[in-house]
Amino acid sequence: MCGLVLEVQVGVGHLTPDDFTRMRQSRDWSIWRWFDFLPVENRSSIVSLGEGSTPLLPAPRLGERIGIANLYLKNDTVLPTGSLKDRSNSVGMSVGKELGFATASVISTGNAAASVAAYAAAAGMQSVVMVPKGTAASKIIQAHAYGATVIVVDGRFDYEVAELYKKAVAEFGWYDCLSSNPYRVGKKSYAYELVDQLDGALPDWVIHPTAGGTGIFCMWQGFKEFHTLGWIDRLPKLVAAQSEAAAPFVAAMAQGRAVIAAVDAHETVAESIQVGNPSALGDRALAALRESQGTAVALSDGEILEAQALTARLAGIFAEPAAATSVAAAQKMRANGTISRDEIVVCHLTGHGLKQPEAIEHAEQDFALIAPTLPALREQLKRCASDARP
Ligand SMILES: Cc1ncc(COP(=O)(O)O)c(C=O)c1O
Repeated sequence: MCGLVLEVQVGVGHLTPDDFTRMRQSRDWSIWRWFDFLPVENRSSIVSLGEGSTPLLPAPRLGERIGIANLYLKNDTVLPTGSLKDRSNSVGMSVGKELGFATASVISTGNAAASVAAYAAAAGMQSVVMVPKGTAASKIIQAHAYGATVIVVDGRFDYEVAELYKKAVAEFGWYDCLSSNPYRVGKKSYAYELVDQLDGALPDWVIHPTAGGTGIFCMWQGFKEFHTLGWIDRLPKLVAAQSEAAAPFVAAMAQGRAVIAAVDAHETVAESIQVGNPSALGDRALAALRESQGTAVALSDGEILEAQALTARLAGIFAEPAAATSVAAAQKMRANGTISRDEIVVCHLTGHGLKQPEAIEHAEQDFALIAPTLPALREQLKRCASDARP
């Protein structure tokens, strides 16, 4: 009645350090090794594509470049559909299956659509994805490939499409996979995995590319669960990395507000996090940032693209621009002294670069056709070397 999202609490008070050891030793590498923390009744309902336990990679070359000695990259680009959404949808879809739904739905122009479609396929459910007119085929082709019904609506995303979607969910009884679905808490697994993978060395900072705030909110819940159980003895500071074109968390933190005020989201290269009104979980994520003594950082498109290039060239991970905001934020926070050289910093890389290949600038001559001769090859190598970026 208050219009807010329900909050699902899972009773974990009975768990002991032995349970922690058991979970860490599980041979199930997916997020479901943390089954006891996830709101699913029966293991037989689990819908999994093997998501989770993504590599936590030390990035010494990138770290040296930006002045952070203990920089780690959490590589979620390798998740089944190429983005962090799989953490949420594995749990959400498992509950949907448990509740007996036949069709899952979402509005999205990218990562969420693909992920919902894939998990619905794995669950044996239908899926419907609604997008606004003008959405590029490349954005929805992945969802179509997984068998989703893609509905293109003559209207704007936040307005007409969202309104129609709401009515359609009520009319057709679809299983709604937006962030207003309280069961999509799979991003709690970030906390569990970081504690496990760092083996006792908790991060000082965890930087998460932020749109709706699900990641920040869920991760904080996860860390607090471990802390309450006594499995960790302190908590990290969380950082919301946003594009300056859509930065409601940054504005709320700067103005000391307890609630998020919606902003107009402008165009940005960080398309996947272009959200001006994180209405479902925004206020709770904001509270989590504050409670953790963290912060929110706004990045320009230039800073984001530079971080994307550095991450690819110095760490070997091709992340989409939205995902690279975490590295851009680390660079900025180090430069302004918020992060010190020896702190442990984890940057979440939340989506694969191939999701948005057109973001990578290149000149036609970079891929010029050459004659199959050594002189032509020498010439082209020389040209490429003179163009090479650091
Ligand atoms: C690539 C990518 N990174 C990060 C996010 C952040 O979402 P949230 O703030 O809900 O965790 C999204 C989703 O919107 C995304 O697609």
